[in-house]
Amino acid sequence: MQWKHIGLRERLRIRIQITPVRKATFLPALSVLVIIAAISACDVQRRQSDAELGLNAQQSAGRKIYDSRCERCHEAYSTRGKKGPGLKGMFQHKYLSLSGLPANDERVTDIIRLGRNEMPGYSQTLNSQDIQDLLAYLHTL
Ligand code: HEC
Repeated sequence: MQWKHIGLRERLRIRIQITPVRKATFLPALSVLVIIAAISACDVQRRQSDAELGLNAQQSAGRKIYDSRCERCHEAYSTRGKKGPGLKGMFQHKYLSLSGLPANDERVTDIIRLGRNEMPGYSQTLNSQDIQDLLAYLHTL
């Protein structure tokens, strides 16, 4: 049978029969993709517990200070900037990414105590034990 012999009605009927089949395979496939995308997005953003990160007691104490004082301006697990640069891997390099200062405890302690440009100093709010704890945590990033 050739197409030109099939009337308009017949063609419509064929289309109506085909379309639901396409939808039936397309929609579940699409939802599977959406679910996979959602799960992987969650995985990136999900907050890991101290245990999952393998933090010891001092590093956990440092993380609490970090979360209350630093997190709003610095990403801990990304190099993406917020108000300040992301601090992921900050002690893995010889120099700090933005200021170019040596990435060591002395310089970072100075930055935390005195602040820098838009960053406030913490000499009044954090004692030396707090700063030790904070450094211990920063070394895990
Ligand atoms: C109000 C936002 C803000 C807060 C809160 C803040 N910072 Fe910053 N921080 C900045 C900015 C902005 C800079 C960049 C300063 C500059 O211009 O060199 C910076 C720079 C730094 C640097 C140097 C980075 C580099 O690559 O040179 C370190 C390390 C740092 N901050 C750590 C901390 C820690 C630890 C805390 C918590 C005790 C903290 N910051 C709290 C905004 C902030």
